Formats: sequence, structure tokens, C-alpha cells
Amino acid sequence: MPGQFGSVVVRKAWCAKLTQEMGCGRDHVWSSFVSTVCVVRDLVKTYPAARGRRGTPATPAVRATDGISLDVRRGEIFGLLGPNGAGKSTLVRQLTGLMRPDSGEVEVLGHDLVRHPERASRLIGYLGQESTALDELTVALAAETTGRLRGLALRAARAERDVVLEELGLTGIAGRPLKKLSGGQRRLACFAATLVGERAVLVLDEPTTGMDPVARRAVWAAVDRRRAEHGATVLLVTHNVIEAETVLDRVAVLERGKVIACDTPSGLKEQVAGEVRVELVWRERAPLDVPEVAALRGSAQESGRRWVLRLAPDEARAAVAAITGGAAFAALDDFTLATPSLEDVYLALGGRTKGLVKA
Ligand SMILES: Nc1ncnc2c1ncn2[C@@H]1O[C@H](COP(=O)(O)OP(=O)(O)O)[C@@H](O)[C@H]1O
Ligand SMILES: [Mg+2]
Repeated sequence: MPGQFGSVVVRKAWCAKLTQEMGCGRDHVWSSFVSTVCVVRDLVKTYPAARGRRGTPATPAVRATDGISLDVRRGEIFGLLGPNGAGKSTLVRQLTGLMRPDSGEVEVLGHDLVRHPERASRLIGYLGQESTALDELTVALAAETTGRLRGLALRAARAERDVVLEELGLTGIAGRPLKKLSGGQRRLACFAATLVGERAVLVLDEPTTGMDPVARRAVWAAVDRRRAEHGATVLLVTHNVIEAETVLDRVAVLERGKVIACDTPSGLKEQVAGEVRVELVWRERAPLDVPEVAALRGSAQESGRRWVLRLAPDEARAAVAAITGGAAFAALDDFTLATPSLEDVYLALGGRTKGLVKA
């Protein structure tokens, strides 16, 4: 395959050039560019104590990130999940060069962002948790301005603006100022602006806050498209377990400034409960003449027409396939299949649910 071979040669040459330019070890740069887009090591940030003024109580020092280490791989949608106050926003502000950590390392696409925070804006498209900077602008101008600030020529910025607004269903309100929109619409407009002037890494801090389900889905679809079509890597902060389960490839669970678990959503769920609950409701009684049904009876808790089985995921899949695909199906009134949720995982890990959202 000459094409493939060619691209490998170009990529290696490119890495060698970067190695020279950046004065780093070759292995170091090579590994960063090939698989790991973002490396965080032992990141610590303490907000100092503040004296109370005019009757307000003093606030103690808060260690908001307490030795966080993470690796985000190329092309993955990586999530930071945790309740309010867990340190998610503090972490991503350090990761995007906006806040200097007390100690620790941040490397994005081979760049040391603790030493060179000014490089972050060229690498990362960041949507902060609170975005008020664009409030005076119209939706269209917010998107166009972001593109211009990222170095696009006017014509290119406008073309990208139009594509992104259309993609997110914002064309109809393009001429309205952000400050006159609903919270969810404003958030969607800010998200749109983040996408103009493509960046290799997107860091999104609770992008779907306040959005209705249609807007949320538009955000997730847009994120997925950036990954699929442009190879973008996405770091998504959320305190919503449903969002975490449906959107993320891997998730780091944060609690009081520490990562308490990091895995795929299903991997996390297997850690705490390797079982799936299968509930079968028969129309009249179980058709025991069907061998698959007879085989399941031993592991079923029976109560009238209802059978409850707790099975390993593979067994549950096989059982459902056998029952819904075969002769037993006609005798079946209803069935449900439930896996432990990320919220169960979170609780089992010792997390507090306060601040985690289920809807
Ligand atoms: N600018 C700040 N000054 C002092 N404390 C802060 C500041 N920002 C955040 N904190 C504190 O740091 C902790 C982590 O906050 P944050 O990173 O915003 O968490 P999250 O995004 O997970 O809700 C909280 O206890 C919060 O009160
Ligand atoms: Mg936050």
C-alpha cells in the first residue's frame, strides 16, 4: 500500500522535525503524537484561604486538585465526572493553560503547557463553564469572531460560521444577541463558537447545562462528528451520569480533587457489579417445554408469572437472544434488562451523590 507507507514516512519525518525544534527526546515526542494527546501528572492546585469581609465568614484553603494524573488518547471522548466542587473545572482550567498549577505537569500534543501556557489556544478549543465574554454579540458574530481570533480569514470564518450554525440548528436565531437568549440557547451558541476554527483538542466544561434534549443531542452529535471526521480528541466535563454513560469512551471519576476511578463506562460498572438483572414476565406461565426456558429456571427467582435472573453479562445476552428469538417469544409478555448504572458505581466507590445529576 504505497499511500499508507507514504503517510507513515511523512509522519515520522514530521515528528523528527518537531523533536529537533522542541529539543525533546524522540521517544517522548513520538509517543505523545501517536497515541496520547494529553498527559497530566500529579497536578495540584490549592486556592488560598480568604479572610471574611464585612460579616462574611472566612473561607479555608481548598485543595481543588489533589495530585491528579490522567492520559487522554487520540480520538477519544474522555469524560470527567464528579459532583459539584469535585475539582473538575479547576482541573480543566489548568489543562487549558488558563490557571497555573502549584505543581505537576500538563502536556498536550507534546507541548508543556505549564511552561508555555500561551500555546494552549492554538491546540485547544475550550468552552468554559461560565461563558459571558460573548454575551454582547449576536450568535453569528460570536461564531465569526471566534474564528477570526483563531486566525481564519474573514471569508473562511464566515463560511465555517454558517456551517456550524446550520449543524446546530441555530441559523434561525443567528441575528439575536446572546444576552437575549434562553440559558440553553446561549450555551448552544457558545458551543457553536467553540467549534469554529478547528482545534485538535476540544475541552468542554458542562457544555449541555440548561439545554433541552434536542439541543443536547445536537451537541453530542457534533462532538462525535468532530471525532469521526476530523480525528478530534474531546475532554468533556459532566456531573450528569446519563450523559457520561451514553457519550463517553472513558471516564475519570473525580471526588474532592482526586481521581477515584478511571475506565470505560462499562468497565467501571463491571468493577462493582458483574451482573445483569433480567426480568421476564410470561403471559400465563413459563413455557417449560422450550429447552432454553427450562435451562434458565434453575437460576430464576419465580413469583407468579415473573422470573428474575441475575446473570453475568454474556449469559444475560445469550438468555435474551434465546428467549426473544425462539419459540418462547410468544409466551412472553414483557422483559427488562438492567445493568448497574454509573451512579451505582459512584456510590460503591464511596462518592457522595449530592451534586450528581441523573436526568
Ligand atoms: N476561584 C476560587 N477561589 C477559591 N475556591 C475556589 C475557586 N474556584 C473553585 N474553588 C473551590 O474549589 C473546589 C473545586 O471547584 P471546581 O473546580 O469549580 O469544581 P467542579 O467544577 O467540579 O464543580 C470547590 O471547593 C470550590 O469551592
Ligand atoms: Mg465546574
